[in-house]
Amino acid sequence: MTWIKLLLLYCSYSIGYCRYFDDDSYEIYIYKEEGKITKNKLSTSKNVSSLEIMSTNVPSIEPDSFCAIPNARTIKIIGNEVFPKITKKLFQCTPKLSYLTLDAAADANQEIERNAFTDLTDLTSLRINDVNIPRLGKDMFVGLNLEILNLVGCNITEIDSDSFSGMPNLKEVHLGHNSIRSIKPGTFKSLHHLKELMLNTNEFSEINWDQWDILPSLEVIDFADNPLVKCDVSKIREYFPIIEFFNLGGGFNATQKEAMIEESKRFNVNLTFTNYNTYEVIEE
Ligand SMILES: *[C@@H]1O[C@H](CO)[C@@H](O)[C@H](O)[C@H]1NC(C)=O
Ligand SMILES: *[C@@H]1O[C@H](CO)[C@@H](O)[C@H](O)[C@H]1NC(C)=O
Ligand SMILES: *[C@@H]1O[C@H](CO)[C@@H](O)[C@H](O)[C@H]1NC(C)=O
Ligand SMILES: *[C@@H]1O[C@H](CO)[C@@H](O)[C@H](O)[C@H]1NC(C)=O
Repeated sequence: MTWIKLLLLYCSYSIGYCRYFDDDSYEIYIYKEEGKITKNKLSTSKNVSSLEIMSTNVPSIEPDSFCAIPNARTIKIIGNEVFPKITKKLFQCTPKLSYLTLDAAADANQEIERNAFTDLTDLTSLRINDVNIPRLGKDMFVGLNLEILNLVGCNITEIDSDSFSGMPNLKEVHLGHNSIRSIKPGTFKSLHHLKELMLNTNEFSEINWDQWDILPSLEVIDFADNPLVKCDVSKIREYFPIIEFFNLGGGFNATQKEAMIEESKRFNVNLTFTNYNTYEVIEE
């Protein structure tokens, strides 16, 4: 019985190494497995550029396991029922990582070291979902120069104002499905290339412009599914000079919407009032 199973039909090799990419590199795909992950189990003579670990029940992982795949560019750890704490040591031998996803199973209580992903200088995309991270801080992003940061569903309530200060090349920040109420002044100050900021399903009740920074490249901002009832729309162009899509969510009544739309026309801004989550209200 092989520990690493072949899943994808077009994989032409027998033990889970898929010839998968144009550049002749391979992916190791570990699916629905139980048992310890070790360096030995991942070792192969093939040039592995990608590792995906999905829907497993893995009680432990040797800290040097990924030293078997030093050319890895992509690692995805997705939907595992049981998975050990993710530590910085795990990434000691994968300096070429550019795309990393940790999407925990909903009730897995996945743990990570706050500095687990630091110093991966080639990393451009980091996605962490359904992991409990109440406070974002700079310590989590030391040595990173990300373009895409996705922290959807991480119970974030607080964002230190210097959290993103070392990552001026961020283009997309996805912070939906958290518990963020407000932004500290300076939080987005250095993000001159930020195009998309997703804040849907949080706890903003107002947009207080005093807390915001001018975002010269912002095209999309989304507050769907927030309890948002207050926003001075006349300030939008001042803070977001090239904004194309500004969604204020479904919290405003018809009279307010009409007034805001009227006001926003003066500044040539298109507003949207849409929620995405729909709750069925059962009336007795
Ligand atoms: C391994 O694959 C990477 C692409 O992911 C490539 O850049 C590198 O040259 C390959 N190395 C070898 C030894 O084939
Ligand atoms: C977020 O917090 C809620 C309530 O405390 C908890 O039930 C849930 O498991 C937490 N989510 C994560 C990803 O830890
Ligand atoms: C607003 O939307 C209209 C119609 O969709 C479009 O023609 C116009 O260019 C938009 N304006 C801005 C400033 O994006
Ligand atoms: C809409 O909301 C505003 C602010 O809360 C309130 O003053 C107004 O009465 C509401 N209008 C309607 C028609 O419900």
